[in-house]
Amino acid sequence: MRHLMSPLDFSTEELDKLFDLANDIEHNPAKYAHACDGRILATCFYEPSTRTRLSFESAMLRLGGQVLGFSDAASSSASKGESVSDTIRVISGYADICAMRHPKEGAPMVAAERSGIPVINAGDGGHQHPTQTLTDLLTIRSLKGHLDNITIGLCGDLKFGRTVHSLIHALVRYENVKFIFISPEELRVPDYIIEMLRAKDIPYEEVIRLEDVMPQLDMLYMTRVQKERFFNEEEYIRLKDFYVLNAVKLELAKPDMLILHPLPRVNEISVEIDSDPRAAYFKQAKYGVYVRMALILTLLGLAQ
Ligand code: NCD
Repeated sequence: MRHLMSPLDFSTEELDKLFDLANDIEHNPAKYAHACDGRILATCFYEPSTRTRLSFESAMLRLGGQVLGFSDAASSSASKGESVSDTIRVISGYADICAMRHPKEGAPMVAAERSGIPVINAGDGGHQHPTQTLTDLLTIRSLKGHLDNITIGLCGDLKFGRTVHSLIHALVRYENVKFIFISPEELRVPDYIIEMLRAKDIPYEEVIRLEDVMPQLDMLYMTRVQKERFFNEEEYIRLKDFYVLNAVKLELAKPDMLILHPLPRVNEISVEIDSDPRAAYFKQAKYGVYVRMALILTLLGLAQ
């Protein structure tokens, strides 16, 4: 039995197969409409979500399966003090696969150790968000045609943003990827990631001003300042609108630069950008369904 805790749980060859399957699903949905008949997905979400939970549910429903779950810790027995280990042992008898989001780093991994069914980490605190990374990689591969030879700017909350952490870990495995980290001093990418890049000799730069690096970027990954991870509200208020991508700043960008964002967006991308052909974030959210369909099939052993 296989779980998904980190984007590194799949080799790059396995990821290629997963993305080929996701692209086939996108173009031939009818072929997969009954692939999961009789199967059940549990979504156990101890933290808020719109896209991740609903795209998992949509994925299972589009495969012909069914879904159950909870979207809030307060409505689960966690509020009575039940551990994730006990919850997953029970859910293993109710469902065939589980997607779990939890505010504590490592909680889905603790669950996986006791689980009788595959567990997917749907975001654990400020740590990892592997299925968002699968979504991001599929989007880049589908829209650019390749995952190597890119300069990617990651902008905003690089400290607490789990999507950023997972994406960096995944992209270092491709050739000739250069990272440009754009953040205020307080929200810099964690030291353990910088150390990993240094150890692997991967090129990176850290800057504060987005405008300074915009012309170099093949893609710009914008992120929300992660309000829920701040200890101090004043600090959040001071930093929340540090970056606002608007049409004037975008004039500095390459004509084919991709703009990505895991969403939800707050103020960091002005809505005037949404109609720019470079804005790919709503397409990205849609790729999230195809890649989760491919992932469910793969973890259930149903992918040909
Ligand atoms: C992200 C998350 O939950 O980490 N959202 C998502 O899953 N698409 C990003 C965020 O909340 O800012």
